[in-house]
Amino acid sequence: MKRTLARETVLRIGKKVLLQGWVNTKRDHGKITFIDLRDRTGIVQVVGGEALRELGSEDVIEVEGLVKKRPKNLVNPKIETGEVEIGAQKVTLLNESKGVPFPIDTDGHDIEESIRLKYRYLDLRRPRMAKILRTRAKVVKFIRDFLTDRDFVEIETPILTKTTPEGARDFIVPSRLQPGKFYALPQSPQQYKQLLMVAGFERYFQIARCFRDEDPRADRAYGEFTQLDLEMSFVTQEDILKMTEDLFTDLVKSIFPKKKMSKSPWPKISQREAVRKFGSDKPDLRKDKNNQDELAFAWIVDFPLFKEQTGEEFFYGSGSAKFAPSHHMFTAPHPDDIKLLDKDPTKVRGLQHDMVLNGYEVGGGSIRIHQPEVQEKVFELIGFTHSQKRQFEHMLTAFTYGVPPHGGIAPGIDRFLLAILGETSVRETIAFPTTSSGQTAVMDAPSEVGPEQLEELRIKTVKKNAKPSKG
Ligand code: AMO
Repeated sequence: MKRTLARETVLRIGKKVLLQGWVNTKRDHGKITFIDLRDRTGIVQVVGGEALRELGSEDVIEVEGLVKKRPKNLVNPKIETGEVEIGAQKVTLLNESKGVPFPIDTDGHDIEESIRLKYRYLDLRRPRMAKILRTRAKVVKFIRDFLTDRDFVEIETPILTKTTPEGARDFIVPSRLQPGKFYALPQSPQQYKQLLMVAGFERYFQIARCFRDEDPRADRAYGEFTQLDLEMSFVTQEDILKMTEDLFTDLVKSIFPKKKMSKSPWPKISQREAVRKFGSDKPDLRKDKNNQDELAFAWIVDFPLFKEQTGEEFFYGSGSAKFAPSHHMFTAPHPDDIKLLDKDPTKVRGLQHDMVLNGYEVGGGSIRIHQPEVQEKVFELIGFTHSQKRQFEHMLTAFTYGVPPHGGIAPGIDRFLLAILGETSVRETIAFPTTSSGQTAVMDAPSEVGPEQLEELRIKTVKKNAKPSKG
């Protein structure tokens, strides 16, 4: 017999069906037992005798039975299949489950995160988590369709690459073929997307995994996260903002119809004004800060191109340089301020834009430098040594072959979901996130590797405080 899904049972009243799924809950009432059978579409009540009584919570089962309409007083309006129940005729245990380490029928917020992540595959059975991942998939599909329809090309860029600094430390990967040399994992596809503009695609996007070694926070995943990365040629900053705003406005209407945007078009505020008026360059502009259904999007623009380098965070350049880029080193200076680059770099505004939602910086982007001499000047101001500059020589070379004016943006998928769902942390929006101490969910990496593998890579590890041996 063909399988019927829980949600479809309401369409099969009076028919015999075959259901497969998990025992969500069980209630014994003497001679009769009720179970809620759960599959990917929801739950449905099954009634029966002895065969059901022996089942345990989370066992995987197959039930053949008759779909019956429940009497009016027994209808459960809380579930989609509340009007029916299945009279079990044959019950088969497909796989037994031992007791799960924590309840999965709650929202899970009160359970210690490290335990939830150790058994993430069980944590994801939780309806709240399953719903978030399904919503995430819908969001990504919407974005893909929207951009593809507007002539954007989805292109994958390398993961094994060279440093692309975005203000964090790199993850490095040793090369076996060239011992002593290392790849870096991309902090973002920034350089490749600019090279794709040189290549003439004009409109690129990617659902891109980015890797950054920086301290985690509620709105910052450790290690890796995902961006909608996009880039456009022959555009002004206004064009990029309009396109992004259209995309997210349509997305909210389609996937989050209950949510209301406070303002459309989104307000555009200079960074200075935001800090002066709201005390933050990612202000929460909701009228009611507790209203999860209110979405206050805003653009923050006119950031200073450079920030003073304090040394507290990861530093750019030689470390002694006074300035670091406030966004990244490819952001173009405001054309009116180019003359200040020599005189007073702190006064130079960048053509940078941040997309803010309910107090989160959800996306960042800019118009890029496309003149090699301006790029050289920025390298100089951020204190790049000759060898650091050489790391980016490919960009300067590419820019000598006809580069269109270009710019883009990268909204974070995880952080967008965090903001729109009003969740507690980005980790609630990622299937298998790392813990706050950087261990991967379930698999518990990083881990040690065997001596043969290290030997092959010509790597020696040294215990802290121990002297490296010679040779
Ligand atoms: P930026 O570094 O501002 O820009 O990042 C853009 C967006 O990526 C998300 N994000 C993160 N999300 C979760 N965890 C993290 N650790 C994390 N770090 C960043 C945020 C952020 O707004 N290449 C540029 C984009 C461009 O210029 O086009 C870039 O990466 O939502």
